[in-house]
Amino acid sequence: MSNKNAHEKVEKNVGLMAVLIAVVVSFGGLAEIVPLMYQAEAVEPLPGVKPYPALELAGRDVYVREGCYNCHSQMVRTLRFETERYGHYSLAGESVYDHPFQWGSKRTGPDLARVGGRYSDDWHRVHLINPRDVVPESNMPAFPWLETTTVDGERITAHMKSLRTIGDPYTDADIAGAAKAVEGKTELDAVVAYLQGLGKHAPRGG
Ligand code: HEC
Repeated sequence: MSNKNAHEKVEKNVGLMAVLIAVVVSFGGLAEIVPLMYQAEAVEPLPGVKPYPALELAGRDVYVREGCYNCHSQMVRTLRFETERYGHYSLAGESVYDHPFQWGSKRTGPDLARVGGRYSDDWHRVHLINPRDVVPESNMPAFPWLETTTVDGERITAHMKSLRTIGDPYTDADIAGAAKAVEGKTELDAVVAYLQGLGKHAPRGG
């Protein structure tokens, strides 16, 4: 069979063509994705990076529920004007325990990857209850209900257990102590704890 006939056969047979396309596309996909899974810098936490403690994890859940990511990214890019404003550019090893990650690219508000420690807890509390009380020109929505909703200890315990099944190294003690750690805390306490922890283990400098 000549080469020309082989081509014709593939081109005239939709089923065969579909199978061959699938093979070629999956090969390309695998060649891109598989090496990433074995690259230490992409899968190993940076020194000091640990799974979120119970209260921060609860705050992270609120962050995702309220859609904060619609306006805030958590990824400092490797561009000078970004590193001068926010700090060291983001590294994959910082977000190995982020399920799902909050990198994003939509910035109605500033990037939050390095916001931990930039303001006091009180500033965050006032800002989240009504942003205009501290930043008059702000168009960030107010989240006043966070102050009056308490964190559910059972839910956070279950969440930590489920994260452990996908590989986050929570100890039995972490899980047993979770409900106690969030007892009596409001969702506002949790979000503030989460925000103050952001960028804690980032490399220093620009
Ligand atoms: C509709 C868009 C929008 C949403 C949703 C939003 N923000 Fe904002 N955020 C902004 C804007 C704009 C600013 C800048 C003005 C200001 O400081 O209020 C900001 C500022 C901030 C800052 C100060 C950052 C800095 O470096 O000065 C924090 C912290 C913050 N937001 C947290 C949150 C959290 C937590 C949520 C979810 C509960 C949230 N934001 C939801 C738009 C938004």
